[in-house]
Amino acid sequence: MATLLHLDASAELVDSRSRAITRAFATAFAAAPGNTVVHRDLHADPLPHLPHPELHWAAPLRSGGAPDPAAEALQERLIAELLDADALVVDFPLYNYSLPSALKAWIDHVHVPGRTAPSAVSEAPLAGRPAVVVTTRGGDYGPGAPNAGRDHATPVLELVLGEEMGMDVATVAAGLTLAGRDPARAERARRGEREYAEAVRRARDLGARLGRTLGARE
Ligand SMILES: Cc1cc2nc3c(=O)[nH]c(=O)nc-3n(C[C@H](O)[C@H](O)[C@H](O)COP(=O)(O)O)c2cc1C
Repeated sequence: MATLLHLDASAELVDSRSRAITRAFATAFAAAPGNTVVHRDLHADPLPHLPHPELHWAAPLRSGGAPDPAAEALQERLIAELLDADALVVDFPLYNYSLPSALKAWIDHVHVPGRTAPSAVSEAPLAGRPAVVVTTRGGDYGPGAPNAGRDHATPVLELVLGEEMGMDVATVAAGLTLAGRDPARAERARRGEREYAEAVRRARDLGARLGRTLGARE
């Protein structure tokens, strides 16, 4: 029995490719007997911006200030949701070369040295836990493309979840999702369709494998 925390951050609620990819992952994960999925929609049910800088630190590391108890309680709920999960899957489209603000607010709440990231007072409680980062982009960010290197969102997720919090991060990306809007660029649109189909397939395979292996653990 394993639990997946499934986060969605796309502002598109009906026809979103990134949401469809995380859904494929979560459905495959949940197919293993006893597995459960906790879904949080960061766009439909948005979090506030982190209201106080001291909330970035675990209580023993704070240098002062008096965080609002309600804000602290919300942060605790979000951290508990993450710590209670055996795996994480998160969707985010690239917005203005960066993260959707809905997802940034979640990261600001849960990346807490001394709590979810190692520090002088704690180890890394999430070390080795799988995190699957699903991203879509309207343009082409592949090697050699003019936009190569301009995705400033995926490296942030890989850095915070992976290097800071110690999770085992896998990234599933699909580009050229907007190419179909330009009839003069049919070949790019076909490439976008292929990347999307491959991302769904990869997410389904990863979800099934993680669901089976994590679900079989004692
Ligand atoms: C506010 C906004 C900003 C965007 N900025 C970019 C961008 O900087 N680069 C890009 O390639 N696509 C950009 N896009 C396009 C989306 O990344 C793309 O359409 C994505 O596939 C939408 O996500 P979804 O279908 O997974 O929900 C932007 C879309 C929106 C709504």
